[in-house]
Amino acid sequence: VSPRQPHARDLLIGVDRSESGSVSRQLEEQLRQAIRSGALPAGSSLPSTRVLAEDIGVSRGVVTRAYTQLAFEGYLLLRKGAIPTVRTSSQLDRKREAKPKNGDAASRIRYDLRAHLPEVASFPRKAWLRSVRDSLARARHTDLSYGDAAGLWELRVEVANYLVRARGVSAEPEQVVITGGSTHSLALIGRVLARRGKTQMAFENPSHYILHGVAESAGQEIVSSPVDDEGIRTDLIGEAQSVVVSPAHQFPSGVALSPIRRELLLTWARDTGGLIIEDDYDAEFRYDRAPIGALQGLDPEHVVYIGSTGKTLVPALRLGWAVLPESVIEDFTLELFSTMLHVSGMDQLAFADFLRRGEFDRHLRQMRAIYRDRRDLLVTELANLLPGLRISGIAAGLHVVLEMPSCEIAESVCTRARSRGVAVETISQHTLPKYNGRAGIILGYGSLSMPALQSAIEEFARTVADVMQEATEDPAAVAGVP
Ligand SMILES: Cc1ncc(COP(=O)(O)O)c(C=O)c1O
Repeated sequence: VSPRQPHARDLLIGVDRSESGSVSRQLEEQLRQAIRSGALPAGSSLPSTRVLAEDIGVSRGVVTRAYTQLAFEGYLLLRKGAIPTVRTSSQLDRKREAKPKNGDAASRIRYDLRAHLPEVASFPRKAWLRSVRDSLARARHTDLSYGDAAGLWELRVEVANYLVRARGVSAEPEQVVITGGSTHSLALIGRVLARRGKTQMAFENPSHYILHGVAESAGQEIVSSPVDDEGIRTDLIGEAQSVVVSPAHQFPSGVALSPIRRELLLTWARDTGGLIIEDDYDAEFRYDRAPIGALQGLDPEHVVYIGSTGKTLVPALRLGWAVLPESVIEDFTLELFSTMLHVSGMDQLAFADFLRRGEFDRHLRQMRAIYRDRRDLLVTELANLLPGLRISGIAAGLHVVLEMPSCEIAESVCTRARSRGVAVETISQHTLPKYNGRAGIILGYGSLSMPALQSAIEEFARTVADVMQEATEDPAAVAGVP
């Protein structure tokens, strides 16, 4: 035996015949784990197949099978007559397994009250798994090949049915295109318009900052239009050729677009040939009265309706839809095709099944009740603990706004709360230039259980009280105080 060759005992490798699974698989898994964890560093030697087989009492074929599989996966270098060695590229795996840089900051958050988070813990895993299993078992071979860029037909039918019934959208399956979520839909429509030379896109001020970046990357210049208590100021859209709005529950202010403004917005589109992009991001959750129907239902030829499972199921799914006017269907689908061909066919199969079984509606019904309780708790406790501050935007969605005397105080509260483990957002994080509306803190109640929410509110309210107290004593000291 060559002195350079290690033995199984040096590598702490052995097989257990009482365990289920083949012996070769056991060996393979132990070696893979040793390489990935760094216990077997890059460049290190492994015993020859003969030595290892003798050491652990298996046939040489068992070791050869394990080594061949690991060589195929890129972990081992096998050359005829040479001792097997660990490849240098496997270092990459360890890097991938390392904690991301922001991991520590994220772990310091005890209570996450940011607005974009739904209750991921309630994702109906069993029902989803059933849909995955059953839809895959039923799928034709052709369903597993490249599909239609616009999406799986059966899913487009199910989504159209759902939107007509639940959101008052006017949708034929031909108009529905399946995308990777609302941000993806916005990116695609932005690119379609840019190719047509229409590069001015108006946004409500404030509106979600992520959407501004998405539109800019799609070649759009952002034009800002103020929001008041009736929603977007339609008289101030300016020269823009398209406008992004969230009529059911404006993000972040929470106001609903008034009936008069709805009419004015549609008139703007008809008069100028402009396109309205309706971001219906959280309208399924409305608590105190019937949901407000989608604007798109009033004039489908002037509105692109975009929706997603990001808030209704979980963000990780990355599955959404756009309901398009005739004039943009083809170009939109081409943009999708030329950027990613189409979204995952497997997920589309599963979601179609999930919708067909009524699981999506069942989940929404359950979540609506859960979110209503959380909203009630948040609103009641804020009113108790911070009686002088106005709360708005409470009728729908997954967040409310707590108004603040100034942007500086709101920023200070946000920074101070973060240092105490409570993550919140401010309105000013979502504003565009020339904003002169109210200052406030956005409080999302989607992701915390009732007891956690109760503690979060108490900690948050203490923070607000502290910052307000300091602001009264020494106003100059407040801005940016951690
Ligand atoms: C107002 C608004 N629109 C769109 C999105 C993004 O949705 P999606 O996950 O479907 O891309 C969010 C996410 O938080 C949002 O708050």
